[in-house]
Amino acid sequence: MKKLKTIKCADIAENSSALFETDTQQIALFNCEGKYFAIDDMCSHAEASLSEGEVYDCKVECPLHGAEFDLKTGEAVTLPATKSVNTYETEIIDGYIYVEMVTDAQD
Ligand code: FES
Repeated sequence: MKKLKTIKCADIAENSSALFETDTQQIALFNCEGKYFAIDDMCSHAEASLSEGEVYDCKVECPLHGAEFDLKTGEAVTLPATKSVNTYETEIIDGYIYVEMVTDAQD
């Protein structure tokens, strides 16, 4: 596990999102009622960026076909998506959102 420093909490307004990219991953970050969540940015249904979706009730609605994902569990709660997306633990340190990432076995 590796803690990845991402963006400032203040850079995500309540009920909105932001994209954070590393060399290998795209993570969608969300502020839901003052709590921060991190999930895979790519929708499990097709190629759409969940960080561009609408956020409400701690869910995000995919901007392409409208499937909703629970931000806490990553579960696809409405069709057409049926598979969950990965979720990542978040922690706030000195005003920044840190995300727990699984790293390669060699790390
Ligand atoms: S690409 Fe997200 S619901 Fe189809």
